[in-house]
Order: sequence, then C-alpha cells, then structure tokens
Amino acid sequence: MKNEHTLPGGMTVNEFLAEYWQKKPLLIRQAIPGFKGLLDPQQLKDLSCSPDAQARLVRQKRGQWQLEQGPFEFSDFSSLGKTKWTLLLQGINHILPEGAALLQQFSFIPYARLDDLMVSFAPAGGGVGPHFDSYDVFLLQGMGHRRWQISKQDDRTMVEGAPLRILKNFSAEEEWILAPGDMLYLPPQWAHDGIAVDDCMTYSVGFRAPSYQELGEQFLVHLQDHLCLDGMYADPELKTQTHPSEISKEMLIQVENAISQIKWSKTDISNFLGCYLSDPKPHIYFDPPEPQLTRKQFKKTLASAGVTPDLKSQILCYTGSVFVNGTSFEVNQECYNLLRVLADNRKFSGENIPDEAFELLYQWYLDGYLIPVAGA
Ligand code: SIN
Ligand code: CO
Repeated sequence: MKNEHTLPGGMTVNEFLAEYWQKKPLLIRQAIPGFKGLLDPQQLKDLSCSPDAQARLVRQKRGQWQLEQGPFEFSDFSSLGKTKWTLLLQGINHILPEGAALLQQFSFIPYARLDDLMVSFAPAGGGVGPHFDSYDVFLLQGMGHRRWQISKQDDRTMVEGAPLRILKNFSAEEEWILAPGDMLYLPPQWAHDGIAVDDCMTYSVGFRAPSYQELGEQFLVHLQDHLCLDGMYADPELKTQTHPSEISKEMLIQVENAISQIKWSKTDISNFLGCYLSDPKPHIYFDPPEPQLTRKQFKKTLASAGVTPDLKSQILCYTGSVFVNGTSFEVNQECYNLLRVLADNRKFSGENIPDEAFELLYQWYLDGYLIPVAGA
C-alpha cells in the first residue's frame, strides 16, 4: 500500500487521510488481494500458550460474558465448545516477521501512532460483543468470514458487571460480511460488533493515541528524572511566630521561587515524547546476542546483509535525536541521517560507516535491539 501511495480501489493515501482517517469508516474490498492470514488457528493456540503471550479468551456462557487472560494451557479447542468464544493475541508483530511486514504496509501512518497487530480466532457465532474502541483500527479479514455491524450511536450504556466493555443497546446502522483480504477501517469511538460467520481469523492493526492526562503524568515523571535544582531551604532571618503551627508567608515565597525554577523547553518535550513512545511495554525484554560478533565481524555484517531492528524494537527520530526502546541518543547530522534510514526502513547496511553511528549500532546490537539480517 505504501509504495504506490494508493489504497486498493484507486484511492490515494492522501484522499484516505483527508476523507476518512479519524473521521468516518471505510470498507475496502480486497485491500490485500490474496491475503489468507499469517497463522492458522493451531499456531495461534500454540502461541497463546507460550509464557509471555499477551492472550485473552472471551466467552459467552449462558448469556454471561467471561474474560480470561493467557497464557493458556489448552491442548486443543475442544474444551472451549463449538461456538460463542474468541481467542485473541496481541503484539503478533513482535513475534512473527510476517506480522511486522504486514504492519509495515501501514507506514503511511507515522510509526509514533502505530500500536500493534492483534489476531483473533472465533468459530461461527463467536465474537467479543458490541463495543467501541478509543483508537483507530484497520480490521483485516484473514481466514473465513466475519459479519461486521457498525453504528455511530451516542448511547454508551454498558452491560453491567461484564468483565469487558460491552454495549448494552447496540443498534447497527450498517453491516457487511468481510471475506479474506477485505478490510474495514474504523475511527475511534465507532460502535462495532464482529460475529464470525464460519471459522474466522481477523487481524487488527491498532493505533495509539495517549490521553492528555497520560501525557501530562508521564511528562512529569520524565521531568523528575532529569530535574536538577540547586540550593536548599534556608532561613537565617527566622523570626518568632505567634502561631508556630502556621506555615509562614516567607517560607511559601521561598518555596514558590524554588519551584518556579522548574522550566522545560521544546527539547525536553521532544526527548520525553521520543522516550515515552519508544518505551517497550512492561512484558517486553531483549536478549543480547549469544555468541557475540566482534566489532570487526559486525562491520562485515553491516557491509553485507546488514542489520534489522529486533521485532520488538521501536526506533523513532526527531531532529538530531534518535530514540531506541525508551532511551534518547543525540547525534550529529550525518549520523542522524544514517540512523533515520534504519528507523524508516527497519533495515540498514553499508560500508565505511562513520565512527559515531558505528558505535551506536554496535551497542544496540550488543543490547539485543538490532540483529543481523538472516543470511548475514
Ligand atoms: C476481534 O477481532 O474479534 C475483535 C476486534 C475488535 O473488535 O476490535
Ligand atoms: Co474493537
């Protein structure tokens, strides 16, 4: 999708952004022609049993919604019954190179906005119930068929006592049955209900949009880590007080003056944003390479097949700073231009790399953030 700057059906990415993005839903038949999915249900089941799986199981039993968090232990689906359940797995772009490659097709939206790729499997009749999300989502149909119903309704009453957010009074305004390769884009807050028509797998490309409250709180945490205030409270001119329990005006003014030394610049904001947005989620960790390439071997690797970020690595850039998995690196312009190629293309190779860039690349390799491209 990215390279031609058009969406299937001839719509340009610019038209999509102007007319639909964050504005209204769009159904694209055969958005990815020939797409059959990246996994089969068995593989999804196996992945959802692995120890660090971000998996959920949503079930409807006697009209009651149930939610279980993975990792799971089932050896096959028979224990779940024939219908009324959905197995969901987040972050498959962190597990499967094909997942990362699929997400790459959505890079007409900046990486800073991308969240992850989720996959779900449901037998006929299964679904997670009518709800709305706070984020934009592309719902790409893999195996099987799903009936999507959507509504712009204002009624946000939720089913009481349910372990997940289910709309009590969902009233569909439009519906479609999606087949493999079809895709539905939904802006935030649009109510939707997807029910499997047959054995069905749906891939959700989800985006992130932090609330101002979250940004504010996290910015203050960031600021706290970088705060450097000189001086300490002093009162050589202390006078007696009639009421020793009262905080004096002098004390208040001194503290006010101290606090008002806390200032922040645009650079503090960009450093915060880069670190915050590239910070790995808490369950994510990186494995250093074993055995390690020496500097010399790494140089050779860079010159031949090159390196690629580990699937879990997030790299963002902003005028002279590169942010890798929650840490910022301020670099010179030449180095910045090189590292931005790695961040944009998620691949980098080259000879005679300047020292500053080479040292960073080698360090990131040792940290497990970068890996040699297969075949290197
Ligand atoms: C699903 O894949 O079953 C749910 C996706 C969604 O509604 O956001
Ligand atoms: Co949803």
